[in-house]
Amino acid sequence: MESNTSRRTFIKAAAGATAATAAVAAASTMGGQQAQAQEAATSAPKLNDMFAGRGNARQVTDDIWWVGAADKRLALFENAYPLEQGMTYNSYLVMDDKVALIDTVDRAVVGQYLENLNAVLDGRSVDYLVVDHMEPDHSSAIDLMISKFPNIQIVTSAKGAALIGQFFETDISDRLVTVAEGDTLELGAHTLSFVEAPMVHWPEVLMAYDAASGVLFSADAFGSFNSLDGNIFADQVDYDNDWMPEARRFYTNIVGKYGPQVQAALEKASTLDIKFICSTHGLVWRKDTDKILDKYTHWATYEPEDKAVVIYYGSIYGGTENAANILATKLSEEGISNVKVYDVAKTHKSWLLAEAFRASHLVFCSCTYNMGIFTPMKELLNYLVDHNMQNRHVSFVENGSWQPVAAGLMRNIVAQMSDMTLVGSDITLMSTVSDQNVEELGTLAKQIAASVNGDDSSSDLLTMADGATNVSAGDVMHTNADTAAQAAAPSAAASSAAESASAGTSGGASQWKCKICGYVYEGDSLPADFVCPICGASADEFEKIA
Ligand code: FEO
Repeated sequence: MESNTSRRTFIKAAAGATAATAAVAAASTMGGQQAQAQEAATSAPKLNDMFAGRGNARQVTDDIWWVGAADKRLALFENAYPLEQGMTYNSYLVMDDKVALIDTVDRAVVGQYLENLNAVLDGRSVDYLVVDHMEPDHSSAIDLMISKFPNIQIVTSAKGAALIGQFFETDISDRLVTVAEGDTLELGAHTLSFVEAPMVHWPEVLMAYDAASGVLFSADAFGSFNSLDGNIFADQVDYDNDWMPEARRFYTNIVGKYGPQVQAALEKASTLDIKFICSTHGLVWRKDTDKILDKYTHWATYEPEDKAVVIYYGSIYGGTENAANILATKLSEEGISNVKVYDVAKTHKSWLLAEAFRASHLVFCSCTYNMGIFTPMKELLNYLVDHNMQNRHVSFVENGSWQPVAAGLMRNIVAQMSDMTLVGSDITLMSTVSDQNVEELGTLAKQIAASVNGDDSSSDLLTMADGATNVSAGDVMHTNADTAAQAAAPSAAASSAAESASAGTSGGASQWKCKICGYVYEGDSLPADFVCPICGASADEFEKIA
């Protein structure tokens, strides 16, 4: 009971609720006493009466409204990703015979949310709250909505329902509508059809499609960092310059690891006649939806977007930085215009990851530090591994004043990624760039430029063991989990891995598929205590598929 009080204290503070309204929550929480709750609500002021603001909702279609809110003050999304222009949390109202609310918003912006919600509702109530997934940036106001609309029904997946119980102590059993793939929710002229999209970005994710309007409520998919500046539609802004980099950074950092699962969701989306994409973050797409769908196809399949070179350097006193800049200049002289140079100690790794998803060729230049890789570079490389980076061309430059070892150690980490092709030979600096180094950088620039232009004729396949030593130009690095057969047919191996999301499986005769996220386990038998490495589901959630 104490924790109930404390949770409601937050809701009360966030919404400016009165004591009478808190009593609604209490009644609703304590055994579904809805009649009592309704009675209390009748005598209570509206929850937003304490806000002086006016609604700033936007119309998406005749019957569908954006009622979300922006948080321009937020410095770190998920307490991890730096934001320059804040974050938007999108929520949508479908105004039909029945009123459906798609998601809520983060607790920090509940005030704006209530202003927008009440402006569109204009006295009507909400019949359904569709919870596409339970991450708190979209679900924080569930309890508040139950308080505000005592008869509201909560529509979500079975796994989403279980998660609601982990975040809220309110008993929703008498208002829960559990839906799954293919189920529908009739609202009148509009009918929501539910599409499961596990791991895009939590395991319980549901998208909802309305055939009448062609709107896809896509959950986190197609979202972006950044906040709205008046315009609500992607075609109203300079999306390529002002939004695409943040959309790429959002995707790669938030769901970049789950490419196969995103591919599965895209496959389902391809069967729908989509006219509007309404994500939980960022702008609404109503034109040129192929543009963002094409980007997602690249990102989900780990295909580079651009023939481009990204040079990452980690430098203490400038020697390694000097080499990176010389290489960039020589690449320019070779006619490569799409070159970017990043100081890994300065630029946040979320941007560095996004650039790795964009570019075809990556060069890692690191000084030796504590007989290892310079710390920010090591963090970047491990971050790339964590996000399933694969299928890139890579080169290495190391520096050291008495015993340079960074290049081999960097290659050991890169060897954990699939289908990485080595271009050129490692270059070693001894403190500063020598005349010989300048020549070597010139040679490497020519080799990278040739590769960018499609000349990979010297490529050979190499299956790595525990290290990436003794590799040479054109070699392709494979993960330790790759089998000899995969090494012989890398494209088929990559395709298979993408389809099954099963990198690292045991290669046995039978397969079991996780019903939650699509991960495939291969082996002679599925251990009873097996836990899905992607979504944490138990062995009970697996079904035998082969
Ligand atoms: Fe925007 Fe997965 O929450």
